[in-house]
Amino acid sequence: MPVSPILERQTTYPFVRLNEAAQRVRERGVEVFDFGMGDPREPTDPKIRQALVDGLRDRMGYPTAVGLPELREAIAGWAARRFGTTLDPDTEIIPTLGSKEAIFSFALAVVDADGARDTVAYTDPGYPVYERGALFAHARPLALPLREEHGFLPELDAIDDETWARLAVFWINYPNNPTGATAPLAFYEQLAALAREHGFVIASDEAYTELWFDDPPASALQLADRTNIVAFNTLSKRSSMTGYRSGFAAGDPALIAALKAFRPTVGTAPQEFVQRASVVAWGDEAHVAETRERYRRKRALFLQLFERKGVRIAGSEATMYVWAAVPDGESSESFAGRLLEHGILIAPGSYLGDAGVGYFRVALVPSEEDCARAVEILERAL
Ligand SMILES: Cc1ncc(COP(=O)(O)O)c(C=O)c1O
Repeated sequence: MPVSPILERQTTYPFVRLNEAAQRVRERGVEVFDFGMGDPREPTDPKIRQALVDGLRDRMGYPTAVGLPELREAIAGWAARRFGTTLDPDTEIIPTLGSKEAIFSFALAVVDADGARDTVAYTDPGYPVYERGALFAHARPLALPLREEHGFLPELDAIDDETWARLAVFWINYPNNPTGATAPLAFYEQLAALAREHGFVIASDEAYTELWFDDPPASALQLADRTNIVAFNTLSKRSSMTGYRSGFAAGDPALIAALKAFRPTVGTAPQEFVQRASVVAWGDEAHVAETRERYRRKRALFLQLFERKGVRIAGSEATMYVWAAVPDGESSESFAGRLLEHGILIAPGSYLGDAGVGYFRVALVPSEEDCARAVEILERAL
């Protein structure tokens, strides 16, 4: 049977391995608290659910790739309120089916792998989809390590001229999964100047901009000059809508035009009833503020526990993740294995990239009650 060699070379998606290990522990009768994957288990706001139901009609035709004008206007309105930025709903925004598919296929739309610009850079540890999208587009993947001593920002000064010249896409992701680090606007400004100078695209994955605890994080959309810049955002984390699949790409009109040309072939326009629900979700901040408060309380439980136990917290400024150093003498995987024996499933940092070795990630997705029960278990296990 013909199978893509790229697919054959691909290792199992790390979370599949993690869930298999958890299943084996469950089969032994141990209750497992799942802090592994970042799939929020918070309920979706009733107004949003109702809008989805109301959006169902006798016949639902094919949705168009550019989406409903109401949805693009709702996104532009949100971006204006949140980032003080003006986006033209017709030329600077396109809806996506969640953001994962759009992130995966972005390299296919913009990279000329046979040309001089064949490289897609992304940060490590990180979301695995940037690299996989690059590989399937036959681009050259380049992992840039995120180091704690550098605030979990990529070291731009360490990139040589040859690499800049070959760079097609530079993926950044702040607030960052998995480290929870944020990036100041000055970082976006510095990278945007380099993108203009060297002619590469900045793809800014902003899935976690709304899960913050101190100051609202910056966005690439705040830059006055958005040449070569596209930002991806999503309702998945902000509005606990992972199952709806609704997000958007916004930025440089030339890049949005490329996506408008590419995406109808892929067939990734969100269903119209999902778009209707999304209009309501982007238009409301009250449910987002409540969600943030819930994460804030859950996060405090873990930060206090780790402080009491001498576990060193790193990054962890925003997002639904706590990123911390594994205790001395243990590896990321042995530590995760030990906690799993107690019924606590966390992600070893090594599963999230080579530079994640020595760390672990807690996704604050179980209910507050389950978080409190898990903290009690960890109180004894750590
Ligand atoms: C960094 C990052 N980007 C993008 C996504 C994709 O989210 P979605 O496809 O649900 O919008 C995730 C999901 O976990 C993520 O962690």
